[in-house]
Amino acid sequence: MARGNVVLLISASLVFISCMVALFPYLSTRTNKAKVFSIGLKGFQRTPNFIIGILSANGNRALRNAQRQTWISTLKQDLPLAVEYKFVLDRPTQEALDEHDRERDIVFLNSSYSGYAVKFGEKLFGWFKYVAEHNHEATIVAKMDDDVFLCTKQMIARLNELKHTRLYYGWQHQKGIVRIDEMFVVLGIDLVMRISQRRICSAKESECEKSELVDTNWGGTSLGRWLSAYDDVITVPDNANIIHYHRGQKPSLDIRKEDNFCQKYLLYHKASIADMFHLFKTTHKRSELTRAKRLLSQF
Ligand SMILES: *[C@@H]1O[C@H](CO)[C@@H](O)[C@H](O)[C@H]1NC(C)=O
Repeated sequence: MARGNVVLLISASLVFISCMVALFPYLSTRTNKAKVFSIGLKGFQRTPNFIIGILSANGNRALRNAQRQTWISTLKQDLPLAVEYKFVLDRPTQEALDEHDRERDIVFLNSSYSGYAVKFGEKLFGWFKYVAEHNHEATIVAKMDDDVFLCTKQMIARLNELKHTRLYYGWQHQKGIVRIDEMFVVLGIDLVMRISQRRICSAKESECEKSELVDTNWGGTSLGRWLSAYDDVITVPDNANIIHYHRGQKPSLDIRKEDNFCQKYLLYHKASIADMFHLFKTTHKRSELTRAKRLLSQF
């Protein structure tokens, strides 16, 4: 082949690949209203089996948008688990309904309480019950907060290794009963089913029946107590791979000094909007490059 032709062929291939890479997210979200991110580059569809509920307050739309534009947008790539996500809000307002019309990714729990640190147990219970009733294919279920940045690829790979129907995974507190922090907690479907079949008790503990789920007001402590009724829970703490800060705790890790956060960790908690875009930029640049290289190597 003449040298000119080879150059032409390579240029044309590059243009084609760039178009495909650029159009891929657009094409797949347009054709995929249900937000089931299961269409990989190979173009096949798998059953969603990991569902993430992101607990959010109606007023936190900017945080939700930052999550949509960063790590959520990468759920479309070919991952070892098919992933679905939902934002979980207390109840519909006109604004929230408009947002749902645009994004099709909100679940309204219609819970009786709302506000900060009030009846978080009930909300967690509401989410598990929703999954038990609506997502029959789920094998593992997460509940997380809207200020968490997920290293999608790394976390999904980790959960794919660990996936078990009685898994209890996340950042574990060191004091008191076994409990995983509610900012990101993953449960196997058997545990979700067991919990959703019990009854939540929002009254004082002394007024609740023994079989009922006591709401301590906090999601994490409530869930820890509910699970303490079973002796076959597979608890997997992953504190070394998860960056989590308590309320008021000063971050000891400067993410702006990290070259590629997601090469070392799986998750960053207490992410501001700016943090999310920063983490996304520094981790995504590399994966795009790797993908482009892999595509090119096929020629
Ligand atoms: C909450 O209420 C709305 C109607 O106001 C309904 O469409 C939705 O399904 C309810 N959510 C749940 C989880 O039942």
